[in-house]
Amino acid sequence: MDAPLLCFGGPYSNRQALEALLAEAARLGISPARMLCTGDVVAYCAEPAATLDLMIAAGIPTVMGNCEESLAGGAADCGCGFEAGTACDLLARGWFAHADRQVTPAHRAWMAALPRRIDVTLAGRRLAAIHGGATSINRFLFASAPDAVFAAEIAGTGAEGVIAGHCGLPFTRLVEGRLWHNAGAIGMPAHDATPRAWFSLLTPSPEGIRLEHRALAYDHAAAARAMRDAGLAEGYAAALETGLWPSEDVLPPAERARRGQPLAPPPLFWPSQDGHSLPRTMT
Ligand SMILES: [Fe+2]
Repeated sequence: MDAPLLCFGGPYSNRQALEALLAEAARLGISPARMLCTGDVVAYCAEPAATLDLMIAAGIPTVMGNCEESLAGGAADCGCGFEAGTACDLLARGWFAHADRQVTPAHRAWMAALPRRIDVTLAGRRLAAIHGGATSINRFLFASAPDAVFAAEIAGTGAEGVIAGHCGLPFTRLVEGRLWHNAGAIGMPAHDATPRAWFSLLTPSPEGIRLEHRALAYDHAAAARAMRDAGLAEGYAAALETGLWPSEDVLPPAERARRGQPLAPPPLFWPSQDGHSLPRTMT
């Protein structure tokens, strides 16, 4: 690929957010073929079937998330790995049953056929797009994880960099010259007390890749209203409006401490291999 790549994670059954992202991509002149979704198309919000229909119609390359794995396989829960009895676990039971009722056999077949990894070459760099971790689809990897954890996870993919999802918060880390990039989620805000969702743009050049986190404004009030109309638990509907998650069960202490602070992740430049510019033909 030699043009910008738009990355996003977690549509989470939020039709309004996905529609806004598709409109933003069109405004930027980025076709669905140059977009990449890191999975969890279906989760917390009200419209799993409509969200799947939009994704399928758009043809966006998509990595299987744990939610797709669970729904396609007829599992009893979302497979997020929440501890039994926690707030996340109890809330997940509600939306999973709602999604399980809505999805059709064709939706399940699409989810079952999703790849667990998509390889992308950008500016000569080999990137692996996955959902959670290199070997565990539901591993939560947040920005505060130690360098050694990211180094091992990246090494586990055999790629030079990783585009991941699952944790729901946008961040980019460079560890020993290797990349870990999480575009965040479009279907749920980032626990920063704003209703904004997040996606990212990866722009290649002969010198390397510019990674830019971008906020997405969308009709979050309509998405919350749809959740209430569907009879879903209040926690996630309120989160769409307040920008604060209903539970911090999965968050490490560092991310808990940043609760309610509006995010402003700076752009980051990942130089081409060994710091040398690549010939333009190789980008
Ligand atoms: Fe996930």
